[in-house]
Amino acid sequence: MTVPSRHAEPAIVAVSLGDRAYEIVIGRDVLRSLGERIAELRPGARTAIVTDRNVAKYWLEKAEASLAAAGIASSRIIVEEGEISKTYAGLEQVSEALIAAKIERNDLVVALGGGVVGDLAGFAAAILRRGVDFVQVPTSLLALVDSSVGGKTGINSPQGKNLLGAFHQPVLVIADTAVLDTLSPRHFRAGYAEVAKYGVLGDKSFFSWLEKNHGEVFAGGAAREHAIATSCRAKAAIVSRDERETGERALLNLGHTFGHALEAATGFSDRLFHGEGVAIGMVLAAEFSAELGMIADADAARIKRHLAEVGLPTHLQDIAGFAQEGLADADALMALMAQDKKVKRGKLNLILLRGIGQATIVEDVDPASIRAFLQQKLAQ
Ligand code: GLY
Repeated sequence: MTVPSRHAEPAIVAVSLGDRAYEIVIGRDVLRSLGERIAELRPGARTAIVTDRNVAKYWLEKAEASLAAAGIASSRIIVEEGEISKTYAGLEQVSEALIAAKIERNDLVVALGGGVVGDLAGFAAAILRRGVDFVQVPTSLLALVDSSVGGKTGINSPQGKNLLGAFHQPVLVIADTAVLDTLSPRHFRAGYAEVAKYGVLGDKSFFSWLEKNHGEVFAGGAAREHAIATSCRAKAAIVSRDERETGERALLNLGHTFGHALEAATGFSDRLFHGEGVAIGMVLAAEFSAELGMIADADAARIKRHLAEVGLPTHLQDIAGFAQEGLADADALMALMAQDKKVKRGKLNLILLRGIGQATIVEDVDPASIRAFLQQKLAQ
């Protein structure tokens, strides 16, 4: 796999979903084309930009300037940064502001932000007047390669993450790689876990390419854009085949059942970012696959080695305050895993590996074997 030399033209990835098909436009400074592209897609539409306080500092004026240059009216709705906005209260704030801004059926909501803003604004758009279209403008690596593509929108319930939501596809994704310049190294690394995930789950040659080129991906430039485009292409292909997660799309949850349990155990706090939970979860999924004889120990070790090399946590013990709050307790982690949405009628389904690049859904995994595996990991 080679990296195309840098060129001014953005990469366009198509998400083929019939009359709900859309494009992901990937490249440096593509935010400048937001207004022009919206004017072409939806002539005469008004827009409301939903963003958070932090993203607004860096990107709101640029987005507004692009809309204004194309003659598009826009209003701004600014929410608090973080999961605190992905709540009933956040949804009420955004929905009422959209109604006050007179956003109607033919208008557009623009989600300018990371995963929280995309999920919240997308869900508000899904229910506003029974459905208004929206545009995703992701501003974190995680959102660029995962949450802004595929139409999963929603908020958290006090009883669990993402328990309320809707499938609502965006009509356009503007993936400007310049937004990554303002991201902290830790946030970038956490997003990188989702990039590596696409290699581990379905593309061994991409994983090998990342092993060789991760330094360039972290440094920026053409390799970074190539990694982002490859990730978006992988996600777009899966979503096109299984939009509603009746089968294959569940593979995208590799590392997420273990990861979500760890996020829940750390109170969805800064102690463990989502992507960090996914990194540890992916290693656990690989090691559990090896334990079941599905992959070689060497393959599990290879995945762990790569994630550790880029500075991601790969052990339960890497989590700050590991010994507290039930983290060091296999039964508590099992209880948290059982709350995950991937549980069907009380049965625990896991995404495991038959090889690097060959993820598979394993249904009804024996809880006793997971508990014994976790106990062994906790004792290391
Ligand atoms: N983040 C997993 C999915 O979109 O299906």
